[in-house]
Amino acid sequence: MNGTNVPPASQPWSNKTVVITGGTSGTGFRAAQRFLDRGANVVVNGRSPERGQAALDALREHSSRVALSIADCADHTQASRLVEESAAAFGGIDVLVSAGASGKGDPKPFADMSPDEVRDGVMTRFLARMYPVHAAIPLLRARPGSCVVMLTTDAARHATTGETMIGAYAAGIIQTTKTLARELSRDQVRVNAVAMTLTAGTRSWDRIFATESFEKHLFEKAISRFPFGKAPDADDVANAIVFLASPEAAQITGQTVSVNGGLSFGGW
Ligand SMILES: NC(=O)c1ccc[n+]([C@@H]2O[C@H](COP(=O)([O-])OP(=O)(O)OC[C@H]3O[C@@H](n4cnc5c(N)ncnc54)[C@H](OP(=O)(O)O)[C@@H]3O)[C@@H](O)[C@H]2O)c1
Repeated sequence: MNGTNVPPASQPWSNKTVVITGGTSGTGFRAAQRFLDRGANVVVNGRSPERGQAALDALREHSSRVALSIADCADHTQASRLVEESAAAFGGIDVLVSAGASGKGDPKPFADMSPDEVRDGVMTRFLARMYPVHAAIPLLRARPGSCVVMLTTDAARHATTGETMIGAYAAGIIQTTKTLARELSRDQVRVNAVAMTLTAGTRSWDRIFATESFEKHLFEKAISRFPFGKAPDADDVANAIVFLASPEAAQITGQTVSVNGGLSFGGW
């Protein structure tokens, strides 16, 4: 007997277009590889033309159905251009993965942050994820069954020393995911998020462990506490992104999935 909720296995990604902000590195890049391997059209985005070209060259090893759009997603005009270029390249957008954001400087206690740092984080860590979504809504509405997957961090769920504001911006993503999912449900557009923790195979990881520092020693201690004996890596996070974007997740919306290997940093 066939289960009625089992999606057809044949080519669910052919003719689908996935736009990945921050798709030129780390988790966004790993997600791009997976979508291309499944037959989707993919547009990757980042701010640096050099890093973008290197990523594009590597992704062409997987499929020729890939394009690059250089834009700073913390600028709404550039985020809108990214969306327009993506739609022009492949005729529309079915999935928007909003992963491109990076604040200046390392985590630090709230008391040590300057007022400018507090304000800039809203632009670089929160609005950089929200602006592409805002710009893409008309195109997503035009394709019922389309979806958004946003990246956020577990610092929104568990008090993490040095990440008072990072946690606040991330909590904004989690709440936006719920509210936007409700608003867009009438258009058959799903909205979900993936919350990362300390994740291997990313630029943050490379930077943290490159030199001796207080942060490095702190995170070495944290790694020893992951229940499975190691931190998640970018592939683990990319797998969750692809699942939430897939037809298998057709009844999942408004949710945030933590890919943290079972570790909550709340006890710090
Ligand atoms: N790695 C971790 O442990 C960790 C933990 C929690 C949360 N996060 C967050 O999760 C997201 C993905 O992390 P990751 O470590 O996989 O990333 P990553 O390796 O640092 O790559 C970040 C990607 O985003 C792009 N990007 C950054 N700011 C952008 C902007 N304003 N507009 C467009 N593209 C932008 C980068 O390219 P360009 O530099 O060329 O712009 C790059 O493609 C990031 O937002 C990160 O802050 C990471």
